[in-house]
Amino acid sequence: MNTATTYTGASSFWDKIAAKYAKKPVADPAAYEAKLSRVRALLRAEDRVLEIGCGTGSTALRLAPAVAEITATDISRGMIAIAEKKRVAASNANVTFRQAAADEQLDEAPFDVVTAFSLLHLVDDVPAVLDAVFKQTRPGGLFVSKTVCLGDAHAGVRLFVRALHFLGFAPRVTVLSKDYLREALVAAGFELLESRHFGKGRLNPFIIAQRPT
Ligand SMILES: C[S@@+](CC[C@H](N)C(=O)[O-])C[C@H]1O[C@@H](n2cnc3c(N)ncnc32)[C@H](O)[C@@H]1O
Repeated sequence: MNTATTYTGASSFWDKIAAKYAKKPVADPAAYEAKLSRVRALLRAEDRVLEIGCGTGSTALRLAPAVAEITATDISRGMIAIAEKKRVAASNANVTFRQAAADEQLDEAPFDVVTAFSLLHLVDDVPAVLDAVFKQTRPGGLFVSKTVCLGDAHAGVRLFVRALHFLGFAPRVTVLSKDYLREALVAAGFELLESRHFGKGRLNPFIIAQRPT
C-alpha cells in the first residue's frame, strides 16, 4: 500500500528515540560485521532487496554496493528522516528509504531478498508480517531475519524488559522463541535454509528462509 497512511502506536516510541538510536554504537561490532558478510554472500549484483524495520538505515547503506537496489522501510518517520540524511551524505543512489509498516504490501514487490534485523520481536502480529514478507518475496527468493527471542531467556529478563516498557524506556516486545519463529516461517510457506548465531549471545537467531520455487 503506497497511499497516504497514518502510523500510530509503535511509531511514536521510535520517533521519540530516533536521534538517540542513531548515535548508539553497534553493541558487538565483530558480530555485526560477520552478519553483514553472511548476508552479502547471499546477494547478487542484480538483486532487488527490501529491508523492513530499517531504522536509521546503516545496514541498507552498507549492503547497497552488493545489489542493484534496496527499498528500506520503517514505521517511524523519525528513523526514516535520519536514514535519508545519511543516504544523501553518502551520495547513495540505489537505496530508497520510505515510511511503511512491516506488514504493508509495496508496489515495488516482488523482491529477490527481504531482510528484517532486530524487528520481528517488535511487531504485534508476527504471522501477518511473515505473510506479507512471503507474498513480497519472489519464488526462490530469500528472507533473512535476526531478532531477539526473549522466550528463550530467563523469566527475570522478560520481567525486566516488561518493566522497562511500562516505564516508557523500552518498546512493547513480542515474546518469541527460536522454535516458534522457525514454525511461524514454515507456516507462512518458507523453507528454512540456515539458523545460526553471531557473537556470544544465543537469544538472537539469524535465520535464512527461502520461498519455494
Ligand atoms: C531495534 S530497531 C532496529 C533497526 C535496524 N533494523 C537495525 O538493525 O539497527 C527496530 C526498528 O523497527 C521499527 N519498527 C517497529 N515496529 C515496526 C513495524 N510494525 N513496522 C515497521 N517498522 C517497525 C522501529 O521504528 C525501529 O526503527
